[in-house]
This record gives sequence, structure tokens and C-alpha cells, in this order.
Amino acid sequence: MRGIILSGGSGTRLKPLTKITSKQLLPVYNRPMIYYPLDTLIKAGIKEILIIVAPERAGDYLNLLGSGKQFGVKFTYEIQDHPEGLAQAFLIGENFIDHEDVAMILGDNIFEDDFGEVIRNFKGGAKVFAKKVSDPERFGVVKFDENMKAVKIVEKPQEHLSDYAVTGLYVYDHRVVQIAKEVKPSARGELEIVDINNWYLEKGELEVEMIKGEWFDAGTFDSLLRVQNFAKEKLDDKMTI
Ligand code: DAU
Repeated sequence: MRGIILSGGSGTRLKPLTKITSKQLLPVYNRPMIYYPLDTLIKAGIKEILIIVAPERAGDYLNLLGSGKQFGVKFTYEIQDHPEGLAQAFLIGENFIDHEDVAMILGDNIFEDDFGEVIRNFKGGAKVFAKKVSDPERFGVVKFDENMKAVKIVEKPQEHLSDYAVTGLYVYDHRVVQIAKEVKPSARGELEIVDINNWYLEKGELEVEMIKGEWFDAGTFDSLLRVQNFAKEKLDDKMTI
């Protein structure tokens, strides 16, 4: 299994904090934000990790993270010239993924759970992780039928479909690269990961697993504030980096 940390974008929602640095390098308690998703991949046993960054911040990432040797892993870096959608990561990462399975995590997503077992046992298709939230309209949302079988995933739905948000960790088999090539830009001009997830779902090959621990998307001032305290109280002594 290869790993990708998608850490580009312009951090517009966190301006002026992100005027001179990348959102995913901002402090979360005593570590840069990206250490948390990186630790999630490392704890899951992933050793080869592609870090996708915005061009103007690439030097900062290299200075901070280097080759990966100090963490016992190997980093590859790629530039995303413009933030044209989460699914673009699989086009940028085509050579890196090669014919392996791949786990992609967003650089601003912070998880309490350990995904080691899930990742070791992955047997193909796709897997996403859902969490009950009070503000589902901010996320990708899973729509279920009466038997709690996932029937569709909708990005930031206007109407209430369920309380289950799709978190920013996605596991796919190597077909994801070809599927990403077929995705057309959405109305907001992005290659949407929801299209990839629905491709697998329609084939009956998408598994939605509920996560037990806490999860944060640290992309707003309020969630960033909340995760600072959570990192101090609950994550600090579980971190391996
Ligand atoms: O946090 C989980 C949510 O992440 C999911 O529930 C949504 O389905 C998914 O679309 C995403 O929603 P966001 O509103 O958080 O997406 P955003 O555009 O803010 O991008 C998420 C992160 O990925 C952000 O930290 C920046 C980075 N990014 C984003 C885009 C669009 C990139 O590095 N490149 C990109 O092209």
C-alpha cells in the first residue's frame, strides 16, 4: 500500500494565518498539522508516501520533512500547480501509485483512530470512513437506504441526507488512476473525489466504515481551535513522530 498526503490548496478560509504559510504547516498544539495525518499513515504501516503540495510552499515542506528517513519512511514530493480537486491527486500520483493500492489522507484531517488493521486487510475496491457529525452540509455525505446500505455519496448536499460525513481518508485499488482520468470537472471546476467514490459504489465495490474515535477537519478557525485542545489531551502521547 502506497500513501498520499494531499497538502496543497490555498487555505483561503484561514486567512490571514495562511498568507505566508501553508494551512497544513500551522501548529496544532506542539506539532505542525501535517504530522498528524503523516502519523496516521505511518502507524498504518505505510512506508512510501507521496506529499502533494502547492508550488509556493514546496520549499517549506522539504525543509520540514526532508527525505522521510528520520521517520523511517520514504517521501516523494509532487507539485499541484492549481488546486483543481482532490481527485487530481491520482493523476499527479500516477507514476508513484504504479500498480499498487493507495491510501490518500488530507493534510488537514486529524484522526484519533488507528487504521493499521483496515489497511493491512484491504483486498481491493474502495473504502471510505464515515463519522456522525452535527454539520453534515460542510462535507461529503453518505446517503443510506432503510437497511443502512450506502446508496450514494453527495458532496456538500443542500438537503439533509444523513448525519454521516465522509472523512478525509480514502483507500483504493490501483484502478483509481484510470477512474480519475474519466472524471470531468464539476460546476466549481474541480475533479471531485465524490465521483470516484460513486464509481466504486455503483459497482458494489465501495465499503463505508464508521470510525469510532474523534475526527477533525482543521480547515476552519473553530475546528482548528478545538483540535488544538484535543491534540494536547488525547493525541500527544499516542503520536510516534
Ligand atoms: O475533510 C473531509 C472533507 O474533505 C470531505 O467530507 C469532502 O467530501 C471533501 O471534498 C473535502 O471537503 P473540503 O471542503 O474540506 O475540501 P477542500 O477543498 O477544503 O480540500 C480539502 C483539503 O485538501 C484542503 O486542506 C486543501 C487540500 N486540497 C484541496 C483541493 C481542492 C488540495 O491539496 N488540492 C486541491 O485541489
